[in-house]
Amino acid sequence: MSAAGAVREDRLWQRHVDMAKLGGTPRGGVNRQALSPEDAAARNLLASWARARGFSISTDAIGNLFVRREGSDPKALPVLSGSHMDSQPTGGRFDGMYGVLAAFEALEALEDAGVKTKRPVMAVAWTNEEGSRFQPGAMGSAVFAGHNKLEEMLLVKDWKGVALKDALAETLKVAPAPMRDGKPGFPLDGYVEAHIEQGPRLENERKTIGVVTAIQGSRRYIVEIVGEEAHAGTTPRAARKDAFAAALRIAQAMYEATTDKDDTLRFTIGRVDVGPGSPNTVPGKTSFTIDMRHPSDAMLEAHEKKLHEIVAAKAAPCSAAIERVMAVAPTDFAPLVIDLVRTKTNALGFSNMDMPSGAGHDAMHIARLCPTGMIFVPCERGISHNEIENAAPADLAAGARVLVDVLTDLANR
Ligand code: GLV
Ligand code: MN
Ligand code: MN
Repeated sequence: MSAAGAVREDRLWQRHVDMAKLGGTPRGGVNRQALSPEDAAARNLLASWARARGFSISTDAIGNLFVRREGSDPKALPVLSGSHMDSQPTGGRFDGMYGVLAAFEALEALEDAGVKTKRPVMAVAWTNEEGSRFQPGAMGSAVFAGHNKLEEMLLVKDWKGVALKDALAETLKVAPAPMRDGKPGFPLDGYVEAHIEQGPRLENERKTIGVVTAIQGSRRYIVEIVGEEAHAGTTPRAARKDAFAAALRIAQAMYEATTDKDDTLRFTIGRVDVGPGSPNTVPGKTSFTIDMRHPSDAMLEAHEKKLHEIVAAKAAPCSAAIERVMAVAPTDFAPLVIDLVRTKTNALGFSNMDMPSGAGHDAMHIARLCPTGMIFVPCERGISHNEIENAAPADLAAGARVLVDVLTDLANR
């Protein structure tokens, strides 16, 4: 039996059902933000499945969780596959989790089919991909790849002021795994990440597999505006330093500056915090996030400059500061992996198309380390970062079949 033939659609689906209970929401999604008790529970569940199959587990200093199936050559570098188990606050059951479970299914299918590989094949659940709680997102893979410094990330605080290092320590206390020596990061021979598309193209084109060629660049900022608190009933307009009003002027100008004719630039203000948050006090503080994406780094650079100009022009009489919390250049995947994904998809008889990714993924960091690629499967109406996110069991299994065949080839290279 080939390893692709050993992929079990029912098992893969059931694992999604089991994981969706951890942080499950009434609307059928999940709230399993990074390093929360729900994240810890997901880590424990994955580790228990791994131990039951005789795979070894390990973690590193940023909490990335690895599952390893040995190869025949103890000196050969591993091939790695996975994604993330953390979710948005109103997240779906498949974003990230599918990539982890498809990788784990690949390990199980290799085991069930009795396929020996030269290299170890490993699955990974990267820490804090979503970046909804701790900034920046894709943190575990960024630290693994040396894009961000471990020491700096450990000091990052969530919106409530909880330090990442404390949330991580608590998570690893509840979900312990043997700690790898040294700083995160070790040599890899290849990396492949499976993911739901999170957009409508595959469904619209009636294709089962997206052969992912690239990921657009992304930048994220926190804009913090400081004004002055004052009485809502007595303070005339000229005397106000209203931080929310300043934020509104900046936001409006940025929406206008980022409205491009061809609808390529992605601009999102996803979080606004107004302080002190009292109906009858003029806001003395407002901070908001900006998430900006484009296939061209030069365009992102130009719009960052624009942001600085707009903030300088519109903040008065308040003061304002811009913190850039994330900047990842556009990523081109390795022709070796792109071609392998396409070849294996065709050999298995699945319809497919080449496509870039609009969403960010851990693969964008790992691509700087080793030949890397991604496999997309359709999701219903392209809806993601939403509790109603959905995908078909047969499509999830198709992606896992392609994945295990790609990993087998890479692991015998
Ligand atoms: C990942 O969730 C992203 O924001 O692209
Ligand atoms: Mn994801
Ligand atoms: Mn996501």
